[in-house]
Amino acid sequence: MPHHDDEHDGGAGRGFGSRAIKAATRTPRVEQGSAAVPIYQSATFHALDVDDYAELISFRKPGYTYARIENPTASALAEAFAELHGAEAGFAFGSGMAAIHATILSLVRAGDRIVSTRAVYGSTRGLLDTVFARLGVAVTYVDATDHDAVAAALAAAPTRLLYAETIANPTIVVADLVRLAELGHRHGAVVAVDNTFASPYLCQPHSLGVDLVIESATKWLSGHSDVIAGVVAGRREDIEAIRAVSIDTGGIAAPFSAFLVLRGLQTLHVRMDRHGQSALTLARQLESAAAVRSVAYPGLPSHPQATVAQRQLRSGGGIMAFDLGTRTAAAAFIDALRIPPVTATLGSVVTYAVHPPTATHRQLDEEQLRAAGIPPGLVRLSVGLEDVDDLVADVDQALTQSLAPGARA
Ligand SMILES: Cc1ncc(COP(=O)(O)O)c(C=O)c1O
Repeated sequence: MPHHDDEHDGGAGRGFGSRAIKAATRTPRVEQGSAAVPIYQSATFHALDVDDYAELISFRKPGYTYARIENPTASALAEAFAELHGAEAGFAFGSGMAAIHATILSLVRAGDRIVSTRAVYGSTRGLLDTVFARLGVAVTYVDATDHDAVAAALAAAPTRLLYAETIANPTIVVADLVRLAELGHRHGAVVAVDNTFASPYLCQPHSLGVDLVIESATKWLSGHSDVIAGVVAGRREDIEAIRAVSIDTGGIAAPFSAFLVLRGLQTLHVRMDRHGQSALTLARQLESAAAVRSVAYPGLPSHPQATVAQRQLRSGGGIMAFDLGTRTAAAAFIDALRIPPVTATLGSVVTYAVHPPTATHRQLDEEQLRAAGIPPGLVRLSVGLEDVDDLVADVDQALTQSLAPGARA
């Protein structure tokens, strides 16, 4: 006989409806461990009485009340993510953008200023340039690798937040996080980093001095393109401020989403090793192809920040970007690929090729794209777990086809 959580079983009523509702909401109390974190698919959790509820909802007593505030599956994901990043606490969101939004909103108010690196995910750029700009928050963009420019931007006016990506989307610029954290702190800024492209297996920014580390769990953490989620980790007081924003804006991860990310986390290390091996093979292939102007992959000695990458990343990871010269050539290449579907995501068992200027970074105009170092012929490749020989052959034939006269006539 299972145990039931039936402290409140009194007054079940005698009519069929009352009995059916009571019978079907009697939750088993499981006091054993289980192989997986259960999906706590419940909107609310019960308290003993009004005073108990007041204690729970104000976090004076550990437990759960309303699943928008905290839910056990999302909490389990947040704790796992924080642990892997060596951070005190974490919080799990319904998307990477919800995590970025709540993190920034927990820090800034009207009149504040953010210094951000130029090459960031398009929606992050959109969030900063539209949503936060409308609220009176100013943003100055800098080149993450030009530390004098970063220092000058930080010194120019009080800065609340220095924001960067460990490996920038889509340029694959590798930020020197130790240096950026040190510069940000010297100027009184909180330092937050989007670590999505690296994952905690490749890099742990919090251990390098970064205050807040954010990831889109839609990508490598879950790894199978079947969930949208995000996570942030840092010091407990910073995470509590982020949770306070989330309570009133409602971005917490759904239990099933958190479950899928927890499942993905268990194989992250194995997947990332294989993604990295295949990516290195493809990066070398692309580097020696006549049609390719340049390849940015942190695992190649030719990468402009190869030394930082070697120091900071466990491996080159699964994502690279390369320049085919023109938008036409990039589009012809992507259209000719047979394995990757035409879509825009990354960090999955499936290989994806994306044309950032027209997809993930469409928020940037021509001038902003140029300033962010995103040429019209750029292709971003996220390498999946298909057999590498098949990927090499596919890339090979797509390069040939993209070069054929009239390929996209
Ligand atoms: C670097 C980076 N950060 C954040 C996001 C946003 O994540 P999500 O789509 O889960 O909101 C993305 C999405 O592509 C991304 O590439």
